[in-house]
Amino acid sequence: MKVCNIIPYFKDNLSSITHEKEIVSWAYIVIESILAYTKSDTIIYSDSYISKTNTDKIINIVKELRQNKPIQYILGEAYFFGLYFKVNRHTLIPRPETEELVKWILQYNFQSVLDIGTGSGCIAISLAKNLSLNTFVLDNSKEALEIAKFNADKHQVPVYLLHQDILKITELPKVDVIVSNPPYVELNDYDSIKPNVINYEPHDAIFAPSYNSLIFYHKIILLSKSALNQNGLLFFEINEKYSSEISDMLKKNHFVDITLKKDINDKFRMIKATKK
Ligand SMILES: C[S@@+](CC[C@H](N)C(=O)[O-])C[C@H]1O[C@@H](n2cnc3c(N)ncnc32)[C@H](O)[C@@H]1O
Repeated sequence: MKVCNIIPYFKDNLSSITHEKEIVSWAYIVIESILAYTKSDTIIYSDSYISKTNTDKIINIVKELRQNKPIQYILGEAYFFGLYFKVNRHTLIPRPETEELVKWILQYNFQSVLDIGTGSGCIAISLAKNLSLNTFVLDNSKEALEIAKFNADKHQVPVYLLHQDILKITELPKVDVIVSNPPYVELNDYDSIKPNVINYEPHDAIFAPSYNSLIFYHKIILLSKSALNQNGLLFFEINEKYSSEISDMLKKNHFVDITLKKDINDKFRMIKATKK
């Protein structure tokens, strides 16, 4: 196969599962990952032949994409806030709206952070890469924490790992900022979730318990009251549907300066509050 044949090969084999824009973006991600070519290299070297090994790799990747496997799990990495994070089936694939949350948090000055439900560690590590921080990451999944540790080492950010179930613990370390993107999708929405998510991403990272969709917010708010330093900040990624409930929960627990923020799609997907 020649370099110029890659994009047409992707289009021929994947047009039945998604639109052209996504197919072309996958092709460039794969070209970069397998051949280490930028978009312009793809043009410069368009007439070059690819080795048999790399051709086989590309063919296998396309096969997996046809089965709706997310490109990030196929390649084992996801791009988030300017960095590559290792991901696997135990970690959620970091989402663009979470990058917006990180950007928002970086507008503040602080010295310590706790990321609850850290998964790949993408939030905490991106923050610590930009500020000098004492960084704690918590998850109940041992496998996810191993990935967070790998990513922290890769990006040379020291982190304290907390392997704990947030719903069971009674205390958190004292910090300036607590951030969480907890599982918040409702089981009722199961049927509307795309197959690439349902079939591959960890359900414990996505779905809130059926008995209480807001239980993670409730528990984290309660624990944050004593764990946050004075004027400490609590940030959540949220389901827009529950923005007023979560806001009320924060008010009832005496948090102040409660601010909702819209994402790029004009939806309230983030909230911030200050501990008095
Ligand atoms: C929505 S994912 C967020 C992952 C990552 N922070 C991100 O933004 O991409 C939620 C995370 O919470 C973790 N989690 C689920 N239940 C938990 C619990 N009871 N205690 C602690 N962590 C939990 C999952 O393992 C998962 O890593």
